[in-house]
Amino acid sequence: MSNRMWGGRFATGPDAIMEEINASIGFDQKLWRQDIQGSLAHAAMLGKTGILTADDVAAITGGLKAIEAEIESGSFTFSRALEDIHMNIESRLRELIGPAAGRLHTARSRNDQVATDMRLWVRDTVDQIDQQIADVQLALTEKAAIFAGAVMPGFTHLQSAQPVTFGHHLLAYVEMLARDRSRLADARRRMNECPLGAAALAGTSFPIDRHATAKALGFDRPTANSLDSVSDRDFALEAVAAASICAMHLSRFAEEIVLWTTPQFGFIRLSDSFTTGSSIMPQKRNPDAAELVRGKAGRVFGALQALLTMMKGLPLTYSKDMQEDKEGVFDALQTLSLCLAAIAGMVRDMQPDLKTMKKAAGLGYATATDLADWLVRVLKMPFRDAHHVTGRLVGMASERGIGLEKLGLAEMQAVEPRITAEVLEVLGVERSVRSRVSHGGTAPRQVRAQASRWLRQLGREARKQVSA
Ligand code: ARG
Repeated sequence: MSNRMWGGRFATGPDAIMEEINASIGFDQKLWRQDIQGSLAHAAMLGKTGILTADDVAAITGGLKAIEAEIESGSFTFSRALEDIHMNIESRLRELIGPAAGRLHTARSRNDQVATDMRLWVRDTVDQIDQQIADVQLALTEKAAIFAGAVMPGFTHLQSAQPVTFGHHLLAYVEMLARDRSRLADARRRMNECPLGAAALAGTSFPIDRHATAKALGFDRPTANSLDSVSDRDFALEAVAAASICAMHLSRFAEEIVLWTTPQFGFIRLSDSFTTGSSIMPQKRNPDAAELVRGKAGRVFGALQALLTMMKGLPLTYSKDMQEDKEGVFDALQTLSLCLAAIAGMVRDMQPDLKTMKKAAGLGYATATDLADWLVRVLKMPFRDAHHVTGRLVGMASERGIGLEKLGLAEMQAVEPRITAEVLEVLGVERSVRSRVSHGGTAPRQVRAQASRWLRQLGREARKQVSA
């Protein structure tokens, strides 16, 4: 039998392989809510403009709501022969209300329908992700406020560089996540135009009201060009690109959690809630959740690459290739959402080992820059000369396997006679972080100020969410 939705000119049904490659219902059923939402808005508009009678609109609306309840309760049967979510719902509508169902598709095509559904889904998901990122920011900031003065090593090249504080390190991610949110918000702004009413590609001869459907669906305005409306998926690309960057940030943090929980670092401890044991090595506590956040970033990046590649050769307007946008976009955004939940959980769960971190902060001559800065400040040496003198002192200490502070004053004076005992004060890690008072620096005072600023800002946002 040929397809009832489009099979007028077809004598027979599709080959089994054709059906298999053509069907998207296996994955696009995720769009059921958006599809019904779009159809309800479209039907209401067709009624208001007099394109459909009030009776037809009432029947269609009632039928769509019944279908919504069926899908929600799990009693709806999805059929692969009906290809996709749009035709599954329309076909059921016909079963429920009869021929009036066929009028719903007036002045519409699956091309503008799917473009609308996808925008709605991506938009809703971006909104949810934004809240999740805010929650991770809050978890990080609360920890940062508590540990604003906890000294740990700061690294470059993963080599001890200069002492920093744990709070400062956590707030670095709060900043990254703020930019991730701003990228998503930016993508959302551009995406929030309604393609519905572009019809197949050229618009329609019916006197539709695109402003009404756009408004009903919470879009800022209708899209301006019908060809563009059914052709582009840049809204999904932008969301997945922003999601990829965010996933990359989370992956870096996850990598740090993996490092920090090793016995070699021992900077933090995760509880049983976020670790697993080994079936053979009883001593193990593996940071699986962090490893998976790191690993899952690849899926998100992969979806971005796949979507770019799928789109790059397509002439205007719609091509069936575009049906391939869905699985990757769904998976990328849902994966990010899961990673955010896992990171929020781990941040709240992690307990730093302050003694170990502080001890590590002093290793590797991490206060050598403080010594060089002292030579510049007190002895008025040019920084390059101070760097050289300090290097020689580090060399001496390192040869003897001791810290800079363990070198005797006489030994130091052998390299630079003007050095006084006062220099010993700047060699401590606490003193080092306290001195980094420049804006954005690691001094606990600065870190506390930044943490308070974020707590205020996140609190303001949360209040706005509640009142909205
Ligand atoms: N399932 C299709 C998709 O996701 C819906 C649009 C189909 N349009 C068409 N002209 N065959 O892209």
